Amino acid sequence: MKRKTKMVHGGITGDERTGAVSVPIYQVSTYRQPEAGKHTGYEYSRTGNPTRHALETVTAELENGNAGFAFASGMAAITTVMMLLKAGDHVVLTDDVYGGTYRLTTKVLNRIELGHTFVDTSDIAAVEAAIQPNTKMLYIETPTNPLLKVTDLKKMKEIADKYNLLLVVDNTFATPYLQNPLDFGADIVLHSATKYIGGHSDVVSGLVAVKDEQLAEEIHFVQNSVGAVLGPQDSWLLMRGIKTLGLRMEAIEKNANKIAAYLDQHPNVEKVYYPGLASHAGHDVAKQQAEGFGGMIAFDVGSGEKADQVLSRADYFTLAESLGAVESLISIPARMTHASIPKDRREQLGITDGLIRLSIGIEDVDDLIEDLAKGLD
Ligand SMILES: Cc1ncc(COP(=O)(O)O)c(C=O)c1O
Repeated sequence: MKRKTKMVHGGITGDERTGAVSVPIYQVSTYRQPEAGKHTGYEYSRTGNPTRHALETVTAELENGNAGFAFASGMAAITTVMMLLKAGDHVVLTDDVYGGTYRLTTKVLNRIELGHTFVDTSDIAAVEAAIQPNTKMLYIETPTNPLLKVTDLKKMKEIADKYNLLLVVDNTFATPYLQNPLDFGADIVLHSATKYIGGHSDVVSGLVAVKDEQLAEEIHFVQNSVGAVLGPQDSWLLMRGIKTLGLRMEAIEKNANKIAAYLDQHPNVEKVYYPGLASHAGHDVAKQQAEGFGGMIAFDVGSGEKADQVLSRADYFTLAESLGAVESLISIPARMTHASIPKDRREQLGITDGLIRLSIGIEDVDDLIEDLAKGLD
């Protein structure tokens, strides 16, 4: 099945009993058992729910895995994956990971003595140097949020194999339509499905997919134990979103390419971060490991005041956190998504006060460019 067909016909489609073409929403917590200790495959909805199961099945297929898992948020998915580790273990993570992942690692997981080192994972030597005898996981985000840094998945797999590490990839920015890390040997791929997979700014959710059966069993065990599962209504919304993921990503990327080129030549823009630009440091690697460059762009206008000017004049770009929806969003990472990262660390990473992040939507690109021009010119 080709990629775009998989979005529509993958997983479990419709309802065999009634012929309904959409999977029903099983709004239920418990299931009648024919006799004590026997059940029909479902006993309690934290453990399994048919609507969630349909979503989890298509998630596995989209990522070319064998098992999928749906969670109440991207952070719930990340926390569950981290719970595969134990006190005293150590994780090496991409240095400009999503602010929530940074907060989870440095302010919550540290309480159970899970060690961490943040490193620029686009620098292979730096990754190897960060590995300690107790390192158990290599956690990659590619492209990253908000600087769109690209990490070479093949190279990370080599390192993971050499040091026997679990390779985990946050694939939120690339989406399963454009990049499939399990194909490059990652053990676990995860998403904030709140973003492109849902696609309509109406559901908070997280997804995980794996190939290995034993790992799948362990994740299901932790998912059921921790209990941060996705409800049936939200599972259904995600399945609806998935059906148009391919179409949306193509439209979004077309717009993003034009907007990145526009910003790149603008005299009032100091720097543009978009993997689709040939000048972007990760362009060649992104080209090799993904089918496209996605819809996220960051650009630096030099100061917080100038950034505010762009924000205040934009009509079609909504000032909001989050990303990956049909409508274009604009944000200032230093004051919004990445505010939980200390200022000196943000500056070290390049997340300056003048950095603006765009999540490109499916509107007419001419309107979007005009909207940005009002603040930039
Ligand atoms: C790359 C990335 N990973 C994980 C998350 C966390 O997901 P959620 O907000 O669904 O909990 C986000 C949220 O913005 C994100 O951008």
